[in-house]
Amino acid sequence: MSNEHNQSNKSNSKISRREMLYRTGAGGLGLLIGASGLGTITALGNTKSDKEEPTLKDDQVPFYGKHQAGIVTPPQTYAYLISLDLTTSSLADVRQLFKDWTVASEKMSQAKLIDSYEDNLYVPPADTGEADGLTASNLTITFGFGPTFFVKEGSDRFGLAGKKPDCLKPLPSFAGDQIEDQWTGGDLCVQVCADDKQVAFHAIRNLIRIGRGAVTLKWMQSGFQRTNGSNVKQSTPRNLFGFKDGTVNPRSKEEFNDIVWSNGREAPWMKNGSYMVMRRIRMLLEVWDRTHLSEQTKTFGRDKVSGAALGQKEEFDEVDFEKKDENGNLYVPSDSHIKLARGDGSQKILRRSYSYSSEMDPTRAQLDAGLLFISYQKDPFKQFVPIQKRMAGSDRMNEYIRHIGSAVFACPGGTNKGGYVGDSIF
Ligand code: HEM
Repeated sequence: MSNEHNQSNKSNSKISRREMLYRTGAGGLGLLIGASGLGTITALGNTKSDKEEPTLKDDQVPFYGKHQAGIVTPPQTYAYLISLDLTTSSLADVRQLFKDWTVASEKMSQAKLIDSYEDNLYVPPADTGEADGLTASNLTITFGFGPTFFVKEGSDRFGLAGKKPDCLKPLPSFAGDQIEDQWTGGDLCVQVCADDKQVAFHAIRNLIRIGRGAVTLKWMQSGFQRTNGSNVKQSTPRNLFGFKDGTVNPRSKEEFNDIVWSNGREAPWMKNGSYMVMRRIRMLLEVWDRTHLSEQTKTFGRDKVSGAALGQKEEFDEVDFEKKDENGNLYVPSDSHIKLARGDGSQKILRRSYSYSSEMDPTRAQLDAGLLFISYQKDPFKQFVPIQKRMAGSDRMNEYIRHIGSAVFACPGGTNKGGYVGDSIF
């Protein structure tokens, strides 16, 4: 049995309603177009059949597999990303924590209670209960290890320093960064995504609860996208600037292998895993909302309505960065976001971002909202860093955004039944 863990992980005969909406929304091509920094990713190469996974329901993404779920899985509507610091100095405690998290995660992914709580009335229930009766809602739970998990303040805290991959280190500071300590780093991260916010909250809450005594919460950010695929017209979701976000993103299994999945050369335990970059990017909505449409389109180099690159007609038309208008001006400005993000095309990443809103920034009495930018790649320093360096100095978008959080985590390959998350490290 192949346990390859791809995207939706559903058999082709069991396409979820959400995927079906995307597929038909894509003109019945049978492909999920609109793969997105904020959105939909093509579900190719499904390897599970009904026979292999008899209990798999339409909105359940298997927890076990070759890759961790939640990376190339079609992005769900809601996300929580938390960063945790370990308070224990015992490796045995850390192992136990990951074993407990594994059991709980697998149960929650199948919409089951973590444990029955009626058996013993004299202890706190093993499950907080608020997702009881709800479906799995495509819940995925993805775990990552930060640089400080291996070495903190010069100390090889768990005797695992030798296993730290070279490319797992804090990102450099970029021009214009306004990074706030409270939104950086962390020993561990957990990304929870689901199409039901209560399901997602239940999962993150219970994982935090299970970790009590071994970990403390360092930061936590929730995120959202357009709702649940019900609006099929918005096949590529829009960010809070109102632009389609995610048009150019890897989609095929080959691209995932080239761009996303580690081959384990830098650290054997990272084989089939991926490195996550998180940037908490505040979007200055008040400034943006006063900006002319023509400046908005030049900022991205794309049309606001169709998402087509300037000078093209359709969203997925190839961008022509040399094309000029009748006045001899480039359609896609050389300081536009897509021009700088693309560069010479040699660095690519998988964007899996969510919009966030923390309601109000009391210091400015303005909306506190932005992009919980999440990207996955084989090597953050060869992929994310050069892209961000190019953009940091001269992206036209910089006037409207502030990078205020930054973190990088190594998300190991998937877990096999009988094993536990991270067992390849320990
Ligand atoms: C608030 C911050 C950001 C916003 C609002 C934003 C928005 C967008 C939009 C609207 C597009 C065009 C449609 C698409 O292809 O998805 C795009 C493309 C892209 N963005 Fe961003 N983005 C942000 C930050 C970043 C960051 C931090 C990176 C990575 C360092 C990044 C990398 C890319 C890439 C690689 C593309 C595709 C470029 C291409 O090859 O055409 N973006 N972004």
